[in-house]
Parts: sequence; structure tokens; C-alpha cells
Amino acid sequence: MDKIPQHVAFIMDGNGRWAKKRFLPRVAGHVKGVSALKKIVDHCDAIGIKNVTVFAFGRENWNRPQSEVSFLMKLMLKKLNKELGELNSKKAQIHFIGDRTRINHEFAKCIEHAEQLTANNTGIIFNICVDYSGECDIIQAVNRIIQDKLELPVTEQIFAKYLLTSHSPNPELVIRTSGESRISNFMLWQLAYSEIYFCQTLWPDFTPIELNKALEWYNNRERRFGKISEQL
Ligand code: FPP
Repeated sequence: MDKIPQHVAFIMDGNGRWAKKRFLPRVAGHVKGVSALKKIVDHCDAIGIKNVTVFAFGRENWNRPQSEVSFLMKLMLKKLNKELGELNSKKAQIHFIGDRTRINHEFAKCIEHAEQLTANNTGIIFNICVDYSGECDIIQAVNRIIQDKLELPVTEQIFAKYLLTSHSPNPELVIRTSGESRISNFMLWQLAYSEIYFCQTLWPDFTPIELNKALEWYNNRERRFGKISEQL
């Protein structure tokens, strides 16, 4: 493949449907989804994708049944604790993106520890969006810009520095699994020029082979950024 994107973002959708198809409780899909995620992050690292962002829990996901929310939070805490050593040894730099005020204390402590431990790592940048909303990301940037009393006009470049993902370039490729074709309040500013790949595969079935297919598709895209096609 000629072009390996610098940043790939994933909307990991279809865990519930994966479980339902197997007459399992929805949460079984999340457990399988975490295993799929591990393989995908390892693959991204192996092929040189420098930044990976995953939409693990959206702000609107608080509206799910309390039992599912609580399961997901515990699952993320457990997996983070389990994988942190290996991620650190592979030099991954971990960032949690989102509002930390509503997640439970133990998970918040674990996030803080993971970020501090990996802060100086130079390998893959792994952004995990929890209690994230693209709209809230933009609003928090506006509020901080006002607080900092920046000189006007604020440019796009300055604004982008206030977004929660400012340490990563904007994703060139976004992948959403499970056949849904929406952005669902994910990285609304950052996706301005991203290529968006929608596939039918449910997230727990999304493998490195599926990722390679998405990368092949990406390699055949002509990214014009508003200019006219070179072939015209
Ligand atoms: C969407 O499927 C998936 C989620 C809301 C959760 C994804 C989270 C993980 C895989 C855990 C990640 C863990 C770490 C440590 C980063 P859905 O439940 O909306 O599926 P459905 O649309 O079929 O109902």
C-alpha cells in the first residue's frame, strides 16, 4: 500500500447486534468488541499508523440502560488495567478524550495513571474517547479561548489547538462498522476532510483483514480538498 494514513479513527458499532444474532446478552458483544479492538490497535502499530482514535463511549451513550453503562465502564477499566503494561512496553502513548467529571473515581484514577505512565512514549498515539461529543469538544474549545482572552480573530489553526485531540493530526480515514452511515457526534471539526469508510461488518467481527480492505479503499481515493480532479 502506497499511503498509510497518519491517523485512523474508528466508530466501533454493532456490538449489540453481534450479540443478539447469537442469542447472547448485548454486553457479550462489548466483550468481543474489546478483543477485536486489541487486534486492530496491534495491527495499526505494526503497519505504521501513528495515531488511532476510538469512539468507546459517546456522551449520548449515558442514555442506555444503567446496567449496560455500568458494564461498559467496568469493562473499559478492567481492560485498561490488563493491557496497560503491554501498551506501555510497546511505547504507546494513551490519551483519554472527553469529559472526565461523570465517570467513576476508580476509572478516572486509572485513566490518569495510564496517561501519566505513557506521556513520554514515542510510539503509537492511542486516543480513547469516553463521554465524548464532537459538539462538546467544540464548545469547550470556545470556552477556553474566551477564558484565555485570545486576540481576535481566532484562526482555524489556533482553534484546532484548543480541541481535545490537538496532539494528533486530523484523521485522514474514519471507519464506521455495522452498516450505519452517520457520524454520531464524533470529531465534528476534525473530520472536515476525512475519507469516511462505512462497512457492513459488525465491530466484533472487524479484523485486521477488514482494516486492510478499508486501507485499500483509502488508497484509491483521490483527496481533492476542494480542488478539481487531477484527471480532468
Ligand atoms: C457500539 O455498539 C459500541 C459501543 C457503544 C461500545 C464500544 C466500546 C468498546 C468496544 C470498549 C472499548 C474498550 C477500551 C478499553 C477502549 P452498539 O452497542 O451500539 O451496537 P448496536 O448498534 O448493535 O446496538
